[in-house]
Amino acid sequence: MISINTDIAKEFISDEAYTESLEKCEEAFIQLKDKTGQGSEWLGWRDLLKSPNDALLEKISSLGRDIRNNADIFIVCGIGGSYLGAKAVIDALSPHFNKKGPEILFAGHHMGGKYLQELLSYIKTPKQDGTPKSVYINVISKSGSTLETALSFRMIREVMEELYKEKAADRIICTTSGEGGVLNGLIEEKGYRKFIIPEDVGGRFSVLTPVGLIPIAVAGIDIKTLFYGAVSAFNKYEGDATEIVKYAAVRRALHEKGITIDVFSCFEPELQSFGGWIQQLMGESEGKEGKGIFPTVAAFSTDLHSLGQFIQQGTRSLMETFIAVEKPISDLKVNSLEGDHDKLNYLAGNSFHEINTKARIGTTEAHKDGAVPIINLSLSSLNAEVIGELIYFFELLTGIFVYSLGVNPFNQPGVEDYKKAMYRLLGKD
Ligand code: PA5
Repeated sequence: MISINTDIAKEFISDEAYTESLEKCEEAFIQLKDKTGQGSEWLGWRDLLKSPNDALLEKISSLGRDIRNNADIFIVCGIGGSYLGAKAVIDALSPHFNKKGPEILFAGHHMGGKYLQELLSYIKTPKQDGTPKSVYINVISKSGSTLETALSFRMIREVMEELYKEKAADRIICTTSGEGGVLNGLIEEKGYRKFIIPEDVGGRFSVLTPVGLIPIAVAGIDIKTLFYGAVSAFNKYEGDATEIVKYAAVRRALHEKGITIDVFSCFEPELQSFGGWIQQLMGESEGKEGKGIFPTVAAFSTDLHSLGQFIQQGTRSLMETFIAVEKPISDLKVNSLEGDHDKLNYLAGNSFHEINTKARIGTTEAHKDGAVPIINLSLSSLNAEVIGELIYFFELLTGIFVYSLGVNPFNQPGVEDYKKAMYRLLGKD
C-alpha cells in the first residue's frame, strides 16, 4: 500500500492556487480515462492492466526460470525506457550480496568503449574450472535502431557467435516492435527468439511489458505478483483517484509558483534505481514547451552529505518527494558494547530502521525550516506487490500531472535533436 501526505507542501501554496490546480488535474484524469487528451494512442500501459495477459506472464516466468538454470551471465542491452524499469525493480527487490542465479549485467545504455571492451573480455574469459561462461543476452529496443543499444548488441553478438557458433541464436532474446526496424530484419535472418512491445506503449511506460518483465523474471522476482500489484493499484484508482489527483494538484500549484526541481529522495538505498526510473518517466514526459519540474534523485542519508547543504540553504526553487518504507526491511540492531569507547551506546537496542526513521523525520523538520515544500510517500513494505503498485502510481501521476500542464506526456521530440546532430557528425545518411 502507498500513502501520500502533502501537508507540508500545501503550506507553501494558497488555497486559490490549489483549487485551480485541482480542477485542472481532475479534468486531466478524465482526459486520461476517456482517451481524449494529446497522445491518447499511447495509453496501452493502462489497457494492459485492464485485461492482464496471464499466458504471457507464464511464458515469461518460464523463460526466466530456464535462463536462471542455464546462464552464468545475463546481459540486458537497452537504453532509457528499455532498461531503467527492469533495473529499478531488480535493485529494489534483490539481495545486495550472495545473489543466486546469473550475474545480471547492463549494456547498450551508453557509448563508453572501456566498459564495453571490459564486458566483452569478461564474457570471453572462461570460468575458474576452465569451461566457457554461459552467456544470454536480451536486447531491448522498440525502434530497433537506437545507436547505443544496436552498437553494443553488434559487438556482444560477434563475441557470442565466436563462443557458441550456430548455437548463439538460442541465447539471444529480442524485445522489440511487432514489425519494422533493423532489429526485426536481424531476428528474421538469424531466428532469434522475439517478444513484442505493444505499439501503444511508449518506452518509459513499458516496464510491465516484456521490456521489463523478462529481465525481472531472470532476476528471480515473481513477475505475476509484481504485475498484479499494478493491477490492484489500477483498479483502486479507477474506483477513486482522489488522493493521487490531489497530489498532482499540489505539485502543479508548486510548478505554477516557480518550483523547478523535484528531488526524489529515498531513505533506503534499494530504491535509488527506482528513483532513476521515476526521473526518466517524469522528466521525459513533462519537460516540454518550456514547462515541467526537473526530476532528480537523491539517496538519503548518503546525499545529505553531498546535496543536503544546497537543499537546506541554496536557491529556493526546489521541492522534495520523500519515499519511505514503513515495515523494516532488516532487523539489524545496535548492541551495547562494554566501555562504550565510540560513545554509541545511547543507540543500543535501536534497530537501523528506527535510526533511519529518525533521520528521515529530522531531515523533514530541517528541510521544512529551510522552506522546502515536501511530499511524503510511504510504502507499507518493500516487496513485488508494492513495487507493482508504485509503478502504476507514478505512471498515473505522470499522466495526470503532465496533462494538467497542457502538455503531451507521451512523446519526446527533444530527444531527436541530439540524435540528428550525432548522426550528421558520424556521417550517417
Ligand atoms: O521512453 C522512451 O521512449 C525512450 O526513453 C526510449 O525507451 C529509449 O530512447 C530507447 O528507445 P528504443 O527502445 O527504441 O531503443
